[in-house]
Amino acid sequence: MSFEADAQIILHALSGFYERSISGQGPVIHQPPMSVLMADMELAPLVKEGGLSGEKLAQFMDSYLSALTRIYHPANIAHQQAVPHYMAALAGLVDNFVSSDGSIYELGPASVSIEYFLINWLLGKVGWKPALLRPQPAAEEIHGGGILTHGGSIANLTALIAARTQIAPHVWQEGNPGDLALLAPAEAHYSITRAAGIMGLGQRAVYPLEINERGLVIPDQLPAAYARVEAEGKQVVALVANAGTTAVGLYDPLQEIGAFCRERNLWFHVDGAHGGPALLTNKYRSLMRGVELADSLVMNMHKLMRVTAVCTALLVRDARTLDQAFTQEADYLFHAKEQPGYDFLHRTIECTKPVLGLKFFWVLGAMGEAGLAEYIERQFDLTREVYDYLESLPDFECPVAPESNILCFRAKGARDGQLALRDRLLARGDYYVSTASLNGQRYLRLTLTNPATSLDEIKGLVDEIRELIATSQ
Ligand SMILES: Cc1ncc(COP(=O)(O)O)c(C=O)c1O
Repeated sequence: MSFEADAQIILHALSGFYERSISGQGPVIHQPPMSVLMADMELAPLVKEGGLSGEKLAQFMDSYLSALTRIYHPANIAHQQAVPHYMAALAGLVDNFVSSDGSIYELGPASVSIEYFLINWLLGKVGWKPALLRPQPAAEEIHGGGILTHGGSIANLTALIAARTQIAPHVWQEGNPGDLALLAPAEAHYSITRAAGIMGLGQRAVYPLEINERGLVIPDQLPAAYARVEAEGKQVVALVANAGTTAVGLYDPLQEIGAFCRERNLWFHVDGAHGGPALLTNKYRSLMRGVELADSLVMNMHKLMRVTAVCTALLVRDARTLDQAFTQEADYLFHAKEQPGYDFLHRTIECTKPVLGLKFFWVLGAMGEAGLAEYIERQFDLTREVYDYLESLPDFECPVAPESNILCFRAKGARDGQLALRDRLLARGDYYVSTASLNGQRYLRLTLTNPATSLDEIKGLVDEIRELIATSQ
């Protein structure tokens, strides 16, 4: 067994996987039964006998990679997953090898410095004040702050915990007072109601905001929603808006919502897990107009920023709110010390926090911020082009025009429904699409994050759908 020899085997296998995927060879998805895969990969014998190296490793890589969904394949147009830049993957290799921890400075000065730098860079994009490097800013100076964490769900939960600490700081000692509520549109990602459950507020504490037929918050209805919560004797912890919505990728009117929240002194949380990166572009930045009025913002790098899963930024306008979010004692970690850097530990749910910054930084470092912005604009532009194309066909329709890189559509002729049509598409394995509902209607859903995808794949998809419908009649 040798690290270098086995690493060569792995790199060789990955290169082949990448080349075959990106050139569209073979199916994008294929799902053999689990028992077959366990046997193919020889899981039980390997555990019993060991020796996963050399030839055995090469064989394992073959069976493992052949049963993965091919993320780089141009027909991978299903989920909100980044199609990673290879530099993100290489950064992951480095970080896994050195097993660096990003929670306290002494465990990884270089990696913590990168995360600190990236948080500041993102704060600048939002229009919030970055945190100064040491010497520490004066205590009264308000600046933004943030954390890189493991996914949008944890980031949303952390933001809502920070909001709750502001309104009910005694919760940490005494538990929830029982009169706390959240305001969020029904189109919010399920991690918001899940956060309410985890926080012990209960999912019923999430009061719905009125939405229009596109699933977007209606600003004129905000006072009535707020009055309903107040009439029930509840205090609002936070109001949540989407940038963009999970189902169709549309942006709530952040400016109007933000103005309402500022007027009432309500914590305004923007879930930009999917669409936040529009901030980096000149062309689509206006979709995020008003985000600077928020108190907290979540952005996933593993959706639209070409970073491997997972890497999420939670940003706050006022760093003190995140610093106060958790009040915890752990004197083996939290103690006075002289250090030339920064500890993120008190801002996160995690204790051990694998480094997340290097992979994001290497994508930025490789593409440059203009290159990344160009990529995002290309995907948004392509989605508009696909919408125009589908709308021009008599047998397809889209419920709404896209704003980001998500597009829902339905094939009118699919008599047994869009879900059954999707099952047949996935069984063929030539195209991988997802599905979502809007206004109670089921749609097929495209998420165009793949830079290798063009209108040609969509035309091929349309042909295959027509064929599947014709053969099922
Ligand atoms: C709007 C929104 N928020 C949060 C999430 C959850 O993010 P993650 O999958 O990183 O936990 C998603 C995921 O699709 C999302 O679309």
